[in-house]
Order: sequence, then structure tokens, then C-alpha cells
Amino acid sequence: MNGHLSVKHLLAIKELTREDVELIFSMADYFLRQVLSSPTRKAPGMRDVVVANVFFENSTRTKLSFELAAKRLGADVVNFSASGSSVAKGETLLDTLRNLLAMKMDVVVVRHSAAGAAHFLSRRVKATIVNAGDGAHEHPTQALLDCYTLRQKFGEIKGLRVAIIGDVLHSRVALSDIFALNLLGAEVRLCAPPTLLPKHIESLGVTVCHDLDPTLQWCDAAIFLRIQRERQHAGLFPSTREYSMRYGLDRRKLESLNKTIAVLHPGPINRGVELTTEVADGPQSLILDQVLHGVAVRMAVLYLLAGKRFD
Ligand code: NCD
Repeated sequence: MNGHLSVKHLLAIKELTREDVELIFSMADYFLRQVLSSPTRKAPGMRDVVVANVFFENSTRTKLSFELAAKRLGADVVNFSASGSSVAKGETLLDTLRNLLAMKMDVVVVRHSAAGAAHFLSRRVKATIVNAGDGAHEHPTQALLDCYTLRQKFGEIKGLRVAIIGDVLHSRVALSDIFALNLLGAEVRLCAPPTLLPKHIESLGVTVCHDLDPTLQWCDAAIFLRIQRERQHAGLFPSTREYSMRYGLDRRKLESLNKTIAVLHPGPINRGVELTTEVADGPQSLILDQVLHGVAVRMAVLYLLAGKRFD
């Protein structure tokens, strides 16, 4: 397959072109068909590449997904978690990275609580950097896998009405989703209490609605966001119970719509808060498709970026 990304690192959706996203999606199609649908096959396009997964914040899905993606491509993978490392002894981010790179790592997948951490590293170290989430800024591969999942379900993203519901204020997924959905021509509406929305968010080309029912009536697909308790330092909504009554989705609300919408969530779900178990595990949920597609999309990203190293 031909084609090159316009970027050397994957730091933010904001830096990608539409052609970049389409290239990633067609590579992901290939990996989904040829590799992930057959358990023993690998596509060893990264055999001489070392990938370091460097996580300064907790993660289950994203870390495993990147690890599996790199391994399916035949790369060597090392995993680093800040807890239990010398970061606890006061080592800086840059020193930690420089030490890892002295051991000859080629691609660094990094998650950090500070917005801009991936950009910072990309300007200071020689490795290819992939942003796996930087504070409340961006989480580009999550947005790519969300859009890829919508494309698989609906055929095309252009003209699709997508609602993003919940804690937009603290969510890096929301920002990356907005940029990616806009780039691909979807209409985006945000739904949350005013306290969980950034000021002037409409300037990003989205509409806002504070009520869930009309938002659900409007949309083809709804992406529910986790309430980010760890990033909230003030009581931004009265109680979890009240939040889930107004902004959570249960079967009754879903069935009262006179149409079928797709339900997505990046995980981890607060069951009973954003989605009830019946909805999260129900027929309209694409949550496990998102997880599978995450591996295909990350294989595509790693493969395309590793190819850039030799340009
Ligand atoms: C997201 C994250 O960490 O930003 N999760 C994920 O990557 N699957 C969303 C979240 O934590 O709510």
C-alpha cells in the first residue's frame, strides 16, 4: 500500500490532514482483515523496530492495545509505568526518556498528565513520538478509532450527526473527537451541564445542548464520556445520581427514541453513571468494536510512522 503521512510524530489530530486520516483508515482496514481476523497471523512490517510504551498515567486498554499492535507488527516492545519507577525518586520526564533512548528505542508511545508532554518530547528527543493522551489536551488514537468505528458502522462519516455527551471539560477524547469528526465532515453536538463544558467551545465548530433527550433525538451516534473524577477539583455537578438521571443513558431513554442510534464510550465506563449495564452491553453498543478497531488503527499508525523514520 502506498502513501505517506504528512507528520513524523502523532501528537494531535489537529496536525493531521484528511488524507492522513484516510491513509490510516485504509491501512487499518488491511490489518483488520489480514491480521486481526486470523489469530496466528502477523504482519512483520516493524521487525527491526523497538517500541517503548511509556505511561505516566494509568491505562488498561490503550497500553495493551498499543502493545498488541506493535507485537502483531513484529516489533520489540518494552513497557514502562511511572509507578514503581525512578520517577517516584524525582527523575524528570526528559531524563527518563533520554535514559530509555540511550537503550535504542525507536518509537515512544507516551501518556502523561501534562498537556503538551508529547509535543515537548518530540522537540527534544530523536525518537518518533506517539501521543497516547496528554492531560486534558488530546488523545489522537482514541479519536481515530472512534471515527473508524463510526465509518465501519455507517459507511461514511460525512454528514453524520454525532453527539458527545458528558465531561467535555476534562476530556482529551472530546477534543480529539471534535477535531477528527470536523475534519471528516460530521456534525458535532456537545451535551453536558454548563459546568462541564469549556467556555466558547462553539468556536470549534460544534453546537451545544444542555438536555439529553433532544440531543439523542438529533443524533445518529452518541459518544458518552467518563466522568473524570481524578481531574475534577471542584464539585461541578450536585451528585453522581443527579448526573446520571440527567445525562446518563438507560434502556428506557434509548427505547423512547423513535429510531436506533449507535452508542460509544472510550472506556473505562462508570457503569450506572454514564451508561447502565443494559445499554453498555446491549445491541446498540459499539464499545467492544471500538476496542478491536483500536488495535487495527494503532497498527496502522505505528506502521506508517515507523516507515517515515527511513524517509
Ligand atoms: C480515555 C483516556 O484515558 O483518556 N480512556 C482511554 O484511553 N480508553 C478516557 C478516559 O479516561 O475517560
